Amino acid sequence: MAAALKIGFAGLNLEKSGLDKRGALVVFLGDDLEVSASLRKILGAAGTATLKRAVEAEQFKAKERSSLVISAPQGLEVGRLVVVGIGSGKEQEQTDYVRLGGAIAGLLGSATVASILLSGPSKWRVDAEAAGDIALGLHLRHYRFDKYKSKKRENGHGTKGETPPSLTIHVEDPTAAKRAVRAREAVADGVVLARDLVNEPPNVLDPVEFAKRAKELEKLGVEITILDEKQLTKIGMRALLGVGQGSEKESRVVIMRWNGAKAKKGAKAQPVAFIGKGVVFDTGGISIKPAQGMEDMKGDMAGAACVVGLMHALAARKAKVNAIGAIGLVENMPDGNAQRPGDIVTSLSGQTIEIINTDAEGRLVLGDVLWYVKETYQPSFMVDLATLTGAILIALGQEYAGLFSNDDTLSERLHAAGQATGEGVWRLPLGAAYDKMIDSKFADMKNTGGRFGGSITAAQFLKRFVGDTPWAHLDIAGTAMSSPETDINKSWASGWGVRLLDRLVADYYEDRD
Ligand code: BES
Ligand code: MN
Ligand code: ZN
Repeated sequence: MAAALKIGFAGLNLEKSGLDKRGALVVFLGDDLEVSASLRKILGAAGTATLKRAVEAEQFKAKERSSLVISAPQGLEVGRLVVVGIGSGKEQEQTDYVRLGGAIAGLLGSATVASILLSGPSKWRVDAEAAGDIALGLHLRHYRFDKYKSKKRENGHGTKGETPPSLTIHVEDPTAAKRAVRAREAVADGVVLARDLVNEPPNVLDPVEFAKRAKELEKLGVEITILDEKQLTKIGMRALLGVGQGSEKESRVVIMRWNGAKAKKGAKAQPVAFIGKGVVFDTGGISIKPAQGMEDMKGDMAGAACVVGLMHALAARKAKVNAIGAIGLVENMPDGNAQRPGDIVTSLSGQTIEIINTDAEGRLVLGDVLWYVKETYQPSFMVDLATLTGAILIALGQEYAGLFSNDDTLSERLHAAGQATGEGVWRLPLGAAYDKMIDSKFADMKNTGGRFGGSITAAQFLKRFVGDTPWAHLDIAGTAMSSPETDINKSWASGWGVRLLDRLVADYYEDRD
């Protein structure tokens, strides 16, 4: 899958930009309002005068994240001149270029071509990495899920406030920028894949279809194993199968393996592992959910979607790491064969679970997959992602994902990767007193811990399936779906987590050469 948006790179001149009267030119200004010599050269005397006049007329201060749009600018052969403020330029390190790219896309109006001129005030040097991040922001902003709309956007591209079909980023070193953007496009495609899966309706994306989509990663060199119900029964994943038993649709577990690390002295490097909750639709089962908003539960597979998107990103950019992706795919339905409150199931780990509420199904799925991955691959760590609890929305809203972990190093790294990507995580506690809340009268544990600390008791449940393996659980019920619109996402599904975990791997777990 190629990125839907084509972005070209060129040097710091507009000769081959293709800009015309319907084009947009994007330039940057610092808060000293100095028009640098290089910018003056490109705009020409008349264009520079137009810019200065507009800045004065609008009293434009060029603060960070501010912008000024000049239509049909005198002395320039373009439809609009977009001036983006970058403040003092001192905060350059902290500038979120991905977000900046997204914001720029929102300023292009109906332009059919656009050139982004990455030269600003002399103290503001934008390197290839920043150019790559801006391109990533443009890609993410451009995404729409409109495959079920009969009326499509023209050429697959929007008009008002959306990105034009032809975009060029002008930068000092276009070759380096092109290289930087290639890895970013792998990540953008991973995010888009995750968003597509989460947005897809539940009558289309059942566990079997989901597994088929994951299998497409084979084209990138990812090894795929699909376990069907017969195999899952034989292995003994009865907690997972119990969730799916009320559905007409068969359950699946998919294991994805990317072997990108160099073998060290003949020995294979220990893999890192990512596990995702893939409840393709969550009615709640016999403990059925209220009708209001139940349609959102098509997104209850966002953890699994993130893992597939991440594996895509790692493989497409040929990450030097061995990584396992494992997803548990089930549909939680009420019917004559559905699991009941009161049932006791034996999990793959041998631990028994009393079902109190059939709507606390995600942990049953994850418990078996976590145990399976731990036993089969002995990973150096496991990170699971799950739209696990409504309680995490009460605690953290839609800003942060909840982070629970038995390992401080892994937690700190996730936190740092969150800061770097803007996909933030907030750590919440685990502890013996919480663990006690899921002890059961009849079995080794029960699947709910009562009303209080609902996200924590859910995490405690998972912890019983990870042994001593360093592990982190991300509760993404607030961040993955029903997403507020941002500069880089206009879609219901955000694709949350792909960039976070790609960054985690890139910064801490890849071979260095
Ligand atoms: N999939 C839901 C959690 C959820 C809620 C995700 C809202 C996204 C938005 C999960 O399976 C669930 O139903 N959890 C229950 C647990 C309870 C029964 C202990 C919940 O949060 O109410
Ligand atoms: Mn549920
Ligand atoms: Zn659920």
